[in-house]
Parts: sequence; C-alpha cells; structure tokens
Amino acid sequence: MANPWFESVAEAQRRAKKRLPKGVYGALVAGSERGLTTEDNLAAFAEIGFAPHTAGLANERNMGVTVMGQEMSMPVMISPTGVQAVHPDGEVAVARAAANRGVAMGLSSFASKPIEEVVAANPKTHFQMYWVGTRDEMLARMERAKRAGAVGMIATLDWSFAYGRDWGSPFIPEKINFEAARRYAPQVLLKPRWLLDFAKTGKIPDLKVPNMVATPGEEAPTFFGAYGMWMQSPMPTWEDVAWLRSQWDGPFMLKGVMRVDDAKRAVDAGVTAISVSNHGGNNLDGTPASIRALPSVAAAVGDQIEVLLDGGIRRGGDVAKALALGAKAVMIGRAYLWGLGANGQAGVENVLDLLRDGLGSAMVGLGKANVGDLSSDDLVIPAGFERQLGDVAVANATLSTSPAASRTREA
Ligand SMILES: Cc1cc2nc3c(=O)[nH]c(=O)nc-3n(C[C@H](O)[C@H](O)[C@H](O)COP(=O)(O)O)c2cc1C
Repeated sequence: MANPWFESVAEAQRRAKKRLPKGVYGALVAGSERGLTTEDNLAAFAEIGFAPHTAGLANERNMGVTVMGQEMSMPVMISPTGVQAVHPDGEVAVARAAANRGVAMGLSSFASKPIEEVVAANPKTHFQMYWVGTRDEMLARMERAKRAGAVGMIATLDWSFAYGRDWGSPFIPEKINFEAARRYAPQVLLKPRWLLDFAKTGKIPDLKVPNMVATPGEEAPTFFGAYGMWMQSPMPTWEDVAWLRSQWDGPFMLKGVMRVDDAKRAVDAGVTAISVSNHGGNNLDGTPASIRALPSVAAAVGDQIEVLLDGGIRRGGDVAKALALGAKAVMIGRAYLWGLGANGQAGVENVLDLLRDGLGSAMVGLGKANVGDLSSDDLVIPAGFERQLGDVAVANATLSTSPAASRTREA
C-alpha cells in the first residue's frame, strides 16, 4: 500500500475525495448558497503575507497555551462538527488523535458518538450545543455532558437555516432503508475502501444524534429529526445566552461572533471565550471571512475574554497569521475532517502535525520563540483587508473579489 502519510491539508482533501462516497464528501465541503463566505475564508488568508527576519532567529518554539481552562500543546483546537459516516470511529477517532497531540476537542451535539465515549478518549472535551428545544431539555443535555466529564461548554448560535448550494447539496438519507440503499449504492460501490472500514465493524453508519437526549442509551432522534426540532425552537435572545451561560459551571464559549457589538454583548453575558467565526461559510452567505473581522473584535474585547478564530485554517502559517491578528488560539473544521476521511485517526494526527510544523516554521522565520509574541508587525496586510462589523459603519465592506478567491475554491 502507498504511504498513507500526506504532506499538506490539500493532499488530505484530495485523498478524502477519492476515498469517500460522493454524498459523504459533499457533506464535508458544505458551504451555503454561492459559497462566497467559504471562499473568502480561504482567500483572506492568502492575502496576508509574512515579514521574515534573516538572522537573530529564535532557537525555541514554545507553542503551549491554556484555553478555556485546558492546557494545550499548541494553539489549535478541534472545532465541533456534526458530520456522520466519514469513518466508523467518527468523533472517537478524532478525540484520540487530539489527545495524542495534546489538544482539546469540541464535540457537536449533532455528532454521531455519545459524549461519554468521546470524553473517555479525550478528557479535554468541550460539549457544543445549539439552541434546540425547551430550556428544560437544554438543561438535561448540559447535565448529561457535565456527568460525562465535559470540561467546557460551547454555544453555537450562528445559523440561519439557509438551504441550497449552487454546486448542489449531497443526498443524506433520513434512515438507512431500502430507498437510501438504492440511491446510495452506486456511489458507495465505487468506494470499496470506505465500505470495507464500515463492513469490518459489522455496522452500517447510524444517522442518529445520541447527544440530543438526556441519558446515554435513550432512543435518540435522527439527524433530520433533531434539525426539525431546532427549526421549530424560538430564536434565542441575549438574555437566553446569559441564562445558558449561568447554567454551566465552568468555561463557556460563544461560537460564531463576527460583530464588535455582539462581542461586547457576549462579554456582558459572562462568557469565558468567543470564537470569531462564520460557521465555516455555512451560515449567512456574504458574511466576510472571519479573519477579516478578527482584529477589531480582538481589539474591543481581547483583554476581557479569550478570543479564538475559526474558518479557513489549512496550514500552520494560517495559525500564525490568526495569532498575530489577536487570536489566542484557532479551531479547525474541514482540515481534520479531510484527515479523518483520508486516513482515520492517523490522518487527524497527520493534520495536527502539519499545523504544528507549519506554525513552527513561521515562528522560526519570524524570529519568535513564543506563540504569544506573534504580532501584526510580523505580517504584510494589504490596505482594506480588515472588516469591522458592527459599532461603526464601514464603507467598502464588500467581499473580496480577488483572483485568489476563485483559485482557492474547495469544491
Ligand atoms: C461539515 C461541517 C459540519 C459542521 N457542524 C458543526 C456543528 O455541528 N456545530 C458547530 O458549532 N459548528 C459546526 N461546523 C462549523 C465548524 O465548527 C467550524 O466553525 C468551521 O468548520 C470552521 O471552518 P473550516 O472548516 O474552514 O475550518 C461544521 C462545519 C462543517 C464543515
């Protein structure tokens, strides 16, 4: 067999595409509508340059950081993703990889593995919740996460129920039944290695979301059943955010903040951390890249709470850029999903190693011994790069139409 190690996240993506059935791969590409935001998340990183030094470089590369109370070996965390059927071990494989590399894990409430199994694989697990159902139901999910040993809570509220993608949405069956088998069969049969992985476990992918119920083992809804409940739930207010925060005794992150005024409201609600994020371009299409919004948000609240960033991280240099623009750490989504799809747990470890090595190279070139010392002085930032959302009306706040945007498309 060819060497399963890969040298870049781009290569992991190519291998995942080759290995996964079309529908499963399509679910990972994700994005919404025209894909403007997903593209801009990548294009924006390509616009930022480095200003390296020639001599007097540092011999050490200290990357350790404490985020949401957890010591991590580097400023990279697993962002929660609710995707089924990439690999039979799913989130447990990701959790093991993250634990082996000393980083924390965010587990989606739409994940396919129970939180108890994931915490057993990585004790540094934060549980992610959407605003779904009644307050009592949400409390019950939080209490289960607490009992299971989750060390932090991530509330994700940036979702506008947009559907439709110009490049087509994958067929995701409600249940594995005859109709699903018939529609999936042609693409699955073309991907025998993926099928073999599941065949070895003796189980077909289970499209249920076990963390949406209060007790382990209780009959869980399907992905679409839970999605329906979510759509019917009233939209949360800032008082609801403060309430949710008050119910969790421990570190609490609000994920999906793009505006300076919302970041300030999050501070008022008592959060420990925010992630500047546009849900990887899966929310409102036309939202600018999260890295463009980061500097103004970090300047506004970075001395009061921990500011993270997610969206578009594909290499260690991207991590360095985000830190230099004010993030304490980053979270990754598709990068580790490509790794999981390409080579299971080892593929996720491979991705984390690439990010560590790339961050190390950037630190060497920039002459920085400590990740915390990276600053905007290390970067070449083109005029008009930043977007301040909220508080001040910003002229020309249009998305990038640079040629890099079309080159970096991930379909
Ligand atoms: C396939 C997929 C599923 C996702 N599911 C969730 C989820 O269940 N909960 C959540 O908070 N974010 C979810 N996200 C968003 C990620 O946590 C993260 O914000 C995003 O992927 C970061 O962008 P990147 O993929 O460019 O790294 C999902 C993203 C993708 C691509």
